[in-house]
Amino acid sequence: MNARTEDPIRTHRIAVVPGDGIGPEVVDASRPALLALAKRFRFKLEFTEYGLGAAHFTATGELLTDEKLDALRRHDAVFFGAMGDPSVKPGLLERGVILKMRVAFQQAANVRPVRLYPGVQSPMKSVTPENCDLIIVRENTEGSYVGGGSTMLAGTPYAVATQDSVNTAFGIHRVVDFAFRLAMQRRKRLTLCHKKNVLVHAGELWQQTVDTVGRQYPEVTVDYVHVDAMCFHLPLTPERFDVVVTDNLFGDIITDLGAMIQGGLGVSASANLNLDGNAPSMFEPIHGSAPDIAGKGWANPIGALLSGAMMLSSLGEPAAAGALESAAVAVLAQLPGPSGPSMQATTAEVGQRVADRILADATNGSTLDLGSTINTQLCAVLHS
Ligand code: IPM
Ligand code: MN
Repeated sequence: MNARTEDPIRTHRIAVVPGDGIGPEVVDASRPALLALAKRFRFKLEFTEYGLGAAHFTATGELLTDEKLDALRRHDAVFFGAMGDPSVKPGLLERGVILKMRVAFQQAANVRPVRLYPGVQSPMKSVTPENCDLIIVRENTEGSYVGGGSTMLAGTPYAVATQDSVNTAFGIHRVVDFAFRLAMQRRKRLTLCHKKNVLVHAGELWQQTVDTVGRQYPEVTVDYVHVDAMCFHLPLTPERFDVVVTDNLFGDIITDLGAMIQGGLGVSASANLNLDGNAPSMFEPIHGSAPDIAGKGWANPIGALLSGAMMLSSLGEPAAAGALESAAVAVLAQLPGPSGPSMQATTAEVGQRVADRILADATNGSTLDLGSTINTQLCAVLHS
């Protein structure tokens, strides 16, 4: 037996949706690092680009068509930049593309890590790398995002608008169960965040579900925090939290707060996970398209790169995901500010530095050790 058996090459087919504004810049800046990882860890990435967003809508009148959904569905993951432009009426792209994809692909859990990485300064004095490492798990297909409601007597002084919030036992159960499984990989604490003192119907169903599912995870300590109190506690005592599970709208709001305490939207990542394996998950930085700084090379691609790391861990490449996270964090620590225009490196240069670091780490073994991270934890939950 002297012939060396090569691993079969694993191929991951990625649908790339750069979108608008700084979206294409952060996506392009992420590519060299992803390709460096493929080379170092010996897998193949096949990128196929899809035009979606404001520019595409203006040119074609199309949002997310069924044909395009079918095409995207044939991929293993969707890597997303950012979407939106002031020229397109607010709500059209949000509802017609992003929310449509989350629902069509049943991306039930929106995972948004809030970790202050070493070398990054939080705008909150109370937040340090030692006390800030939590994950917000946001329900991603229901709540007030479903869009039901009506407007009567519109345009008159007597206008009446209603906006429904849909909360199903099924939808809550699957995201809560996922949050418990994630907590089992971490410090084994789970916090339900809601407003059950006012939203009594939805709040009660969420609480009952957490209580019921929690019986299967007796090692996990469970508590409850109202969403308004969360806005108070999260920036002051982030160490209180390990995994926070919450509904779609509360999750939208508190994850921006989470992004702020970990150094800004430029470094914040998200994973929109299909938990059944029957449609692709989608990975996107939390920031928007920022048309005011588009094309200047000012956007920080670290949020996109860290989203890319979660994509790799969900594709079953935890070593590559860990290497990407370590390299991105090492490069981030050398940047002058946590967010905003960098005077020392453009978007593309930051991406290239991360790619270079990935290849250098492979030869000199100086990988930054981040301990247990979302990437190992996600891989354990999704692939066990
Ligand atoms: C986010 C964004 C989206 C949301 C918008 C663009 C629809 O704010 O991903 O947090 O509200 O979910
Ligand atoms: Mn948001």
